Amino acid sequence: MDTPVLEAKHLGIAFGGLKAVDDFNISINEGELVGLIGPNGAGKTTVFNLLTGVYKPTEGAFFLCGKKMNGKKIHQVVQAGIARTFQNIRLFKTMTVLDNVKVAFGMKFKYRLGSALFRYTTFWKEEKDIEEKAMDLLKIFGLEEKADYISSNLPYGQQRKLEIARALATGMKLLLLDEPAAGMNPTETAELLSCINVIRERFGIAILLIEHDMSLVMKICERIIVIDYGITIAEGLPAEIAANPKVIMAYLGADDEDDEFSEESGSEEESVKASENEFEDKAELDLENNLLNEQGKETEKDVKS
Ligand SMILES: Nc1ncnc2c1ncn2[C@@H]1O[C@H](COP(=O)(O)OP(=O)(O)O)[C@@H](O)[C@H]1O
Ligand SMILES: [Mg+2]
Repeated sequence: MDTPVLEAKHLGIAFGGLKAVDDFNISINEGELVGLIGPNGAGKTTVFNLLTGVYKPTEGAFFLCGKKMNGKKIHQVVQAGIARTFQNIRLFKTMTVLDNVKVAFGMKFKYRLGSALFRYTTFWKEEKDIEEKAMDLLKIFGLEEKADYISSNLPYGQQRKLEIARALATGMKLLLLDEPAAGMNPTETAELLSCINVIRERFGIAILLIEHDMSLVMKICERIIVIDYGITIAEGLPAEIAANPKVIMAYLGADDEDDEFSEESGSEEESVKASENEFEDKAELDLENNLLNEQGKETEKDVKS
């Protein structure tokens, strides 16, 4: 059998006395889409933080294509091929849609003047190449006509798509999506769903999807893992999960106001509020700073000047 793209064995982390994630096991192959669900505070985002080097696991290990990733720094994880999107959208707001994707392509784009004067032709060839690749990605997401828009001017659903396009541009093997449909209306959610399917077909990457919208998870995931209080309470096919009494209990036991089995996703405002978890924000902020900002900030400056 092929080596799985992602394999986690007995992964765990404790904050003080609290085990936020305990004995988490997963194996995802190329082209597979696995759902990770559970009530609010179950530990889903913490799993992503472990898999992206934001937190060091206090127990267990995880492997990308057979390579042990424990203790790797965020940028090393990204280089190895793990990319994620965030529960709260993170884009370079003042940059155009196209530039957001170009930055993520690794940025040969970065070396301007100095070396560019010497390597004028190479520079423009590479720049053009990146631009074409970036446009191709935008096309998949139906964003090609918005290429010159400033990203913060896009409607919410399109910003989410752009965030995924940018993640894809990093050339990853494993894509981690944290509640990508949060704040989307049903039409946008349906579009997102077909985008995710296209991504799987076109890129053959492994995807781990955290999603609040159960109907979406049930529709597109081939396997689902359910966690509650950091513990895996069920794993199986969507139909098995939907009928699992433990899962039903976990969801019914969750906050009343938080109707996770509901088909409708909440309003944009609600979802944004729901995702404002202070720990997560800090972790994600660190991640953002480390990840793309190094390249992005420089490029942003360059673009402006
Ligand atoms: N850095 C941290 N320090 C302390 N507790 C944390 C930290 N990060 C997450 N937690 C706690 O871990 C639990 C799981 O959080 P999280 O993974 O964000 O849940 P989910 O994404 O499933 O809603 C929560 O109780 C949260 O408060
Ligand atoms: Mg979360």
